[in-house]
Amino acid sequence: MSVFQIREANPNDVEGMARVRVDTWRTAYQGIVPADFLEGLSYQRVSEHWRKTFWEDRTPGVAVFVAEEEQGDIVGIAICGPEQSQDPLYHGEIYVLYVLPRCQNQGIGRELVAACVRHLVQQLKVDSLLVWVIAENPYRRFYEALGGKVVREKVKEIGGRQIAEAGYGWKKLHDLAHLASSDKRVSPC
Ligand SMILES: CC(C)(COP(=O)(O)OP(=O)(O)OC[C@H]1O[C@@H](n2cnc3c(N)ncnc32)[C@H](O)[C@@H]1OP(=O)(O)O)[C@@H](O)C(=O)NCCC(=O)NCCS
Repeated sequence: MSVFQIREANPNDVEGMARVRVDTWRTAYQGIVPADFLEGLSYQRVSEHWRKTFWEDRTPGVAVFVAEEEQGDIVGIAICGPEQSQDPLYHGEIYVLYVLPRCQNQGIGRELVAACVRHLVQQLKVDSLLVWVIAENPYRRFYEALGGKVVREKVKEIGGRQIAEAGYGWKKLHDLAHLASSDKRVSPC
């Protein structure tokens, strides 16, 4: 029996989602994103922003998934939908993907990507994917483990610092369709 489930999020999840986002940023982006920016992150502001963005004014085609532990805690999130910059080659995008530090490396990220791939292929009928990641972020190897290649580059301002980002692309999303295999994951985080 699996100890977590991946499911579509609902508005009651938004505080748990904000905790995952803020706690993961503070751990993963230390030394990359300015410290005062990380300190200034607020569960409440992220909750309010996401409640508005994903439940009051949601863009058509956007899907929000959470990974939930048996006890009901949200430990991972993924948000995906149409690619946002009208890229000529890549038509789906994962905008957000975070797994709480204590739950990483147990297959949850992979399962969340699988849920996004199913949404993009089955609901949006797109067959390509772009994901942006901070270039200095060592976790970018996760996308390489899933077969992604760097196909785009850009610079984004975060907390007053110019930060390079790498865009990982998959031209054939069907290549990722094999990802979900929840029977593999049995250990608690
Ligand atoms: C990146 C992240 C979402 C991955 O989720 P996860 O649950 O830890 O990853 P999984 O356990 O599903 O790993 C899937 C595969 O990626 C590999 N992988 C995961 N993290 C890795 C890393 N830092 N370096 C190299 N490989 C990595 C795993 O070994 C695994 O490969 P395998 O199945 O061949 O063994 C998660 O670690 C995270 O939230 N990191 C911090 C925030 C972040 O960087 N988010 C992405 C920014 S866009």
